[in-house]
Amino acid sequence: MDKIIIEGQNSLSGSVPISGAKNAVLPIMAAALMGKGRATITRVPDLRDTRTMIRLMEIIGAVCEYENGTLTVDGSIVDNPEAPYELVKTMRASFYVLGPLLARFGEVRVSLPGGCAWGPRPVDFHLKGLEKLGAKITLENGYIIARSKRLQGSEIQFEFPSVGATGNIVMAAATAAGTTIIRNAAREPEIVQLCDYLNQMGSNISGQGTTTLIIKGVESLESADIAVIPDRIETGTFLTAGALLGEITLKDVYPHHLDSVLMKLKEAGCTIRTTADTITISPADSIQAVDITTAVYPGFPTDLQAQWIALMTLARGSSMVTDTVYHDRFSHIPELNRLGANIRVDQNTAFVRGVKNLVGAPVMSTDIRASASLIIGGLIAKGTTEVNRVYHIDRGYEQIEDKFSALGAKIWRESA
Ligand code: EPU
Repeated sequence: MDKIIIEGQNSLSGSVPISGAKNAVLPIMAAALMGKGRATITRVPDLRDTRTMIRLMEIIGAVCEYENGTLTVDGSIVDNPEAPYELVKTMRASFYVLGPLLARFGEVRVSLPGGCAWGPRPVDFHLKGLEKLGAKITLENGYIIARSKRLQGSEIQFEFPSVGATGNIVMAAATAAGTTIIRNAAREPEIVQLCDYLNQMGSNISGQGTTTLIIKGVESLESADIAVIPDRIETGTFLTAGALLGEITLKDVYPHHLDSVLMKLKEAGCTIRTTADTITISPADSIQAVDITTAVYPGFPTDLQAQWIALMTLARGSSMVTDTVYHDRFSHIPELNRLGANIRVDQNTAFVRGVKNLVGAPVMSTDIRASASLIIGGLIAKGTTEVNRVYHIDRGYEQIEDKFSALGAKIWRESA
C-alpha cells in the first residue's frame, strides 16, 4: 500500500493549477448516460473515483475513452441498468446512476450504499423523492430496485438540501411527464453545473442556484459536451496550506465559489488577492483562531472542515469548529493529536487549542478530506510525517504530492 512521506516546515511559493471538480464530474458522468449519442467531457480529473465511475458506466454498457483529462462517453448501446455492490461499496456516488437509469429504462437495480467511515449517510431522500415521481421501490438482496413506466412530475420538499438527492431527482425528473418542483434543493455549484449540463442536453430546468428548482419534463435528452468546473475543495485545501507556509497562487479557479472560505482566511489574518480565475494567498505573521460552522452552500463547506482544523492547530488562541452537515466527521482528530495538536471533540464540535509546533509522526488516513488534513498537518509539522492508507486521498485529489512538490514542499510517495 502506498504512503506519502512529508518533511515538514518547508515554505511554499509559486503557483499551482487546480483540477476539475470531483463532485461536479461524477453526477455529470451519470447524466451522460441519459443521452443516446456521444458526449465529450473535458477537465475530468484523474482520480480513483472518476476511474470507478468509468468502470461503472462500462458495466452499464457505455463505451468510454479517457485520455489527458478528456472523457468521451458513447451512450448509444447502454443496456444494463445496474450498479453492482463491488463498485458502490467503494464509492457512494455510484448511487447517482439511479435517477438517470430509471428515467431511461423504467427499471434499475442499484446496490444500497452502506455506512461510511464517519457515520450512516442514508439515502432516504433519494428514494422518497423517486417515489413521489411515481417509482415503485423495493429492496432485494441489498439492492434497490426501482421501477416505473414513465415518471410523473410532482412537488418534492426535501427535509435537508441534500446534494446527492437533488442531483438524482433532477436527473430523474428531466424526462418525466409534467413539471417537478423541488423545494429546499441544494444550491452547490456542482448541482448548478449539473442542471446547466442537463439543459444543454435538452431538458428544461430553471431556478438552479436557488432553493427551488422547476423541472419541466421533456420527452428525451440528447448527448452534449461540457468542461467541468474547478474543484473548490481542492482549492480550499491548498489555501489552508498556503495560509501557514507561504504565498501561493491557485490557477484556473472560480474565486466566487469560495467566498465563505476566503472570508474566514482573511479573518485569520491572511491576505487574499483574486482575479477572475486565480486566488493568491499570503500568510499572516501569526494565524488567529477563527471559529467556523459548516453549512450547505454558500456556507463553509463540510469538505474543508478537516483542513481548517489542521490550520487552527497552530493558531493563536482557541477555536471551535462545528460540523452541522455531518455530525460525526472527526476521524482526523486523533491523528492530528498524534502530531501534537490539542483538539477535543464534544458532539459535533471540535475545540482546537493552538499549539506552538506540530511534530511529525506516522498517521493513518480514513477518508478523503481527513487525509488532506493530515497532509497539511505533515507539511506544517517539524520533522517527518508518514501518511498511511493514501488510497483515500487518491479518490479525490489529483497528484497531490506532485502539486505540493512543485510549490517547494518536501513530499513524496513510497510504495510498500
Ligand atoms: N442525508 C440524509 N438522507 C439522504 C441524503 C442525505 O439524511 O437521503 C443527510 C446526510 O446524512 C448528511 C446530509 O444529508 O447529513 C447531507 O448529505 P448530502 O446528501 O448533501 O451529501 P452527498 O450528496 O452524499 C455530497 C458530496 C460530499 C459532501 C456532501 C455535502 C459528492 C459525490 N459528495 O455528498 O463530498 O460532503 O455532498 O456537501 O458530491 C467529499 O468529496 O469528500 C464528500 C464527502
